[in-house]
Amino acid sequence: MCGIIGYVGYRNTVPVLVKGLEKLEYRGYDSAGVACIDYQKGGISLIKEKGKLSVLKEKIGDFSIEAHIGIGHTRWATHGEPSRANAHPHIDASGKIALVHNGIIENYAELKHSLQKKRVRFLSQTDTEVGANLIGHYYRKSRKLFDAVKRAVGELHGFFAFVLFSKEDPETLIAYKRSNPLVIGLGQGENFVASDVTALLPYTRQVIYLEDEDLAVITAKEVSVYSLKSKSWVRRHVSTVHWDASQAQKQGFPHFMLKEMHEQPEVLKKILSKKIQKGKSIFFDTLDKKFQQSLRKIKRVSMISCGTAYHAGLLGSIAIEQYTRLPCRTQVSSEFRYGDPILDHEDLVVLITQSGETADTLAALREARSKGAITLAVVNVVGSTVAREADAVIYTHAGPEIGVASTKAYIAQLSTLILLAFHIARLRKTISLSELKGLLREFKKIPDQCAKMLKENKKFEECAQKHYTRRNFLYLGRGCNYPTALEGALKLKEISYAHAHGYAAGEMKHGPIALIDHEQPVICIAPDSTTYDKMISNIQEIRARDGIVIAIGTKGRKELEKMADDFFPIPKTLEILSPILTVVPLQFFAYHIAVLNGRDVDQPRNLAKSVTVE
Ligand code: M6R
Repeated sequence: MCGIIGYVGYRNTVPVLVKGLEKLEYRGYDSAGVACIDYQKGGISLIKEKGKLSVLKEKIGDFSIEAHIGIGHTRWATHGEPSRANAHPHIDASGKIALVHNGIIENYAELKHSLQKKRVRFLSQTDTEVGANLIGHYYRKSRKLFDAVKRAVGELHGFFAFVLFSKEDPETLIAYKRSNPLVIGLGQGENFVASDVTALLPYTRQVIYLEDEDLAVITAKEVSVYSLKSKSWVRRHVSTVHWDASQAQKQGFPHFMLKEMHEQPEVLKKILSKKIQKGKSIFFDTLDKKFQQSLRKIKRVSMISCGTAYHAGLLGSIAIEQYTRLPCRTQVSSEFRYGDPILDHEDLVVLITQSGETADTLAALREARSKGAITLAVVNVVGSTVAREADAVIYTHAGPEIGVASTKAYIAQLSTLILLAFHIARLRKTISLSELKGLLREFKKIPDQCAKMLKENKKFEECAQKHYTRRNFLYLGRGCNYPTALEGALKLKEISYAHAHGYAAGEMKHGPIALIDHEQPVICIAPDSTTYDKMISNIQEIRARDGIVIAIGTKGRKELEKMADDFFPIPKTLEILSPILTVVPLQFFAYHIAVLNGRDVDQPRNLAKSVTVE
């Protein structure tokens, strides 16, 4: 979490930093700030405020600063409450070095103590200020910023990224990356550095993704990278970003989340057209022959991820077991990585992540690799750390997702994992060619079916109108739609702050049934499936206790429609594909409830888009 940006070049810096922070604000919005070297005064100008970027922007309006080098930050608080004092950038005690930071310095307390003994004064509760002061401490000795950073980071534990400058060298930014992302944008007579490429797209598409332990020296004219790992200056690959900058705008929608939900049919079309060949085979352009060969030999599969991506993993596991007959477990990354998992070279570990930067998922990947497992990343953000560190990657092609609540990235993950299961099944010959053709025929209908569902927006809104003041919601599903129940509940709670609980419908009688009365809405996900009759029985049990039933089922299921207070039909499809459609009404339901409650849909409280702390 936290978004960082740096600029050096001919433009006036503050507007560049602010524009970049607008794109990075999804990473954290507890406070924001910028620091630059004021061209006229020659010293550091620091402007920072508690709250969203809009507060900072208002403050900046009072200043007129001409600067050609600077750094900016948008914060998701870890050490120290959201406040002006804890906002970044932080200046070291000598007043010479300004620094922004994303991540955590684990040994900050002992370092702070030893710096305090040397009479260094601290103004905040953050770990960041310790980083700034440790660098300042070594800078006072060597007078060389690069050497000071190199020395200081050697003493810092944890995972983080820094961007900083010294007022004594107004031409140079220094950037350091350990685990948390940093990408350099290459311009003509100017250069940029940011947590995420979206902040760079208005200026350049030529980027360098820094690697762990890279220390970059960035001036307007050149970028040099020193690797602390190889202890040498290195040449890093320059990539071209193909994302369209307009994809990261709202394009007339009131919220990114709504816009991203409407993009889902296009995302599905893109995935299917890229990955299905002639309706009879699946093609992943990023998996080479050797990797495909290894897929033939695996004995077990694990799906590891967090949040929404975990729900996608649950469906991925069902697809893997059903079509490949390989045992597959699903686990959240934080449990997997600390659980001493039993793995070897016959295990395939699939890491699912939209951002490719989630700290726990990255740690899980490293754990799996260290135990010799084959690792495959299913990632949305191209060039992200998980994508680069795994043995192989499949991109989900959802485009930039800005809303904190994941929507289009989720259906992209579901689709990709189902296709992966079909692909492994063909490699291992556990499904026939004609079976695959039949599955793909149905799959190809999904984008249009999804588009049809988006047209029901008005109905979803009307249903939300009836329930938006309620504080407790129960979501039930079975089999392929148990993950949908979890996902629907997560969507609602994260953006509306209402309590929502997803449960396996078969477990209802083991506890949650006690909640049911005439005030309890229960969202029942019951499309045609092998457990449809069981879901009907569960719904009868809810009705018998006067519960409010909101049902999602296959079009034409009259008995379900009659039993429900509200019914949202989905087009007829295969059970394994149904979660791609059943989640759509749940996304809309959550969205409208949040809007009706006046919540900040795209930036819900306490959350950030990519969780780069453990
Ligand atoms: O970037 P990732 O997919 O690894 O992120 C995982 C979760 O943090 C993420 O899905 C989170 O749960 C979303 N806010 C859910 O909408």
